[in-house]
Amino acid sequence: MEKYFSKSNMIAGELELPGDKSISHRALIFSSMAKGTSRIENLSDAQDVISTMQCFKEMGVPFVKKGKILEVEGSGYKNFSKPANVLDAGNSGTTARLLTGLLACQDFDSVLAGDKSLSKRPMKRVADPLNAMGLNVKISDNSLPLTIGKSSNLHSVKYRLDAPSAQVKSAVLIAALHCKERSEIIDPFDTRDHTERMLNLVCEQSSEGKVIYASSLDYPKPQDYFIPSDISSAVFFIVFTLLSKDSSLTIKSVSLNPTRTKILDILINMGADIKILNETSANNEPYGDMQVKSSRLRNIAINKKDIPQIIDEIPILAIAGLFAEGYFEIRNAGELRYKESDRIRSICTNINKLGVSIQEYSDGFRIMNKSINNEHSFESFGDHRIAMAFAILCCLLNNGGKVNDFECVNISNPNFESQLMSIASV
Ligand code: S3P
Repeated sequence: MEKYFSKSNMIAGELELPGDKSISHRALIFSSMAKGTSRIENLSDAQDVISTMQCFKEMGVPFVKKGKILEVEGSGYKNFSKPANVLDAGNSGTTARLLTGLLACQDFDSVLAGDKSLSKRPMKRVADPLNAMGLNVKISDNSLPLTIGKSSNLHSVKYRLDAPSAQVKSAVLIAALHCKERSEIIDPFDTRDHTERMLNLVCEQSSEGKVIYASSLDYPKPQDYFIPSDISSAVFFIVFTLLSKDSSLTIKSVSLNPTRTKILDILINMGADIKILNETSANNEPYGDMQVKSSRLRNIAINKKDIPQIIDEIPILAIAGLFAEGYFEIRNAGELRYKESDRIRSICTNINKLGVSIQEYSDGFRIMNKSINNEHSFESFGDHRIAMAFAILCCLLNNGGKVNDFECVNISNPNFESQLMSIASV
């Protein structure tokens, strides 16, 4: 479906956004693992999160929706039913990678598959450390489908992440929850830490990076979860407000996890007027309200060490950079090529369509000149974050513009368009 977005003149109002996608996946996984009833409030309605829930339904976990609360009757330690079908992770890398860690520890064999885009994304990065723990994940061609066999050889591990991936880290931590001896996982990249926080794992700083300890003593128990709103969804509306004239927006109860807020630090350093109010926390996850006002932005150098913490926000940051003073450059972000699309190529192709010259590098890009033409029709590449970033761009262009295959926004935010319409005035 192709969608046209007209120029918006001013942003005003308040938004309540769906629950954070990363925290939602984990709340579903941990409550399904725990024996007994857990309650999840404000679970994300993203298609990716539905993929995780669907996999657990296939393994006999019942879910009951009661208003804003989802009740989960968790199965308990190694007590899932053997799935009758191939488990389908859909488009969701988090579902595929975290569930691989969990499935590999069950007393049954299973097969895990995904859609066309997910089937192109690297899976060896998760199979290798799990197999090094004595598990049995069979992989060919570095991709899904995976055949996951039962194993009686699971042992603890000392593992240092070699790619900046919270999904791989979490898969290894989930496997470590099935082992009596304590495992040590070292994260030199400071990737998002929801798994550690939600499981209350002991962490220490070392010269090699953050060390996380996990064993079967940390296996989840039933509990109540509140999921704060998704900062990665909020940032589309934040950038839209910053770049619009005479605008102001409040976004309620947004996740303020320090491994996710680097995008706010960068925007603030670029000149953004963003204020945080009413800070509080639930399940070790901080959150608060955000007040955003129109701002004059200028581009700044982005540090290599910050890239893992803004990896999902780079498409919309590039749009901010396009309108900010000076040139915008991202380097050291080769991981972008392994997302729902090759995001370096997707961003460069779309920015080129504007007549703006952009230099593509293996690990990033540099937006060179900024003379925008009248060709305002963009590709989503079936990638939700590309679709939303370029929809925001359309709303900022004098004649508006179109984004094709727009329905892929359902992957993270099915109500993106109505949220946009509720704050934009044309
Ligand atoms: C996620 C981790 C990141 C991120 C993804 C969600 C998670 O992926 O891009 O949207 O929930 O752990 P990687 O860990 O592969 O970088």
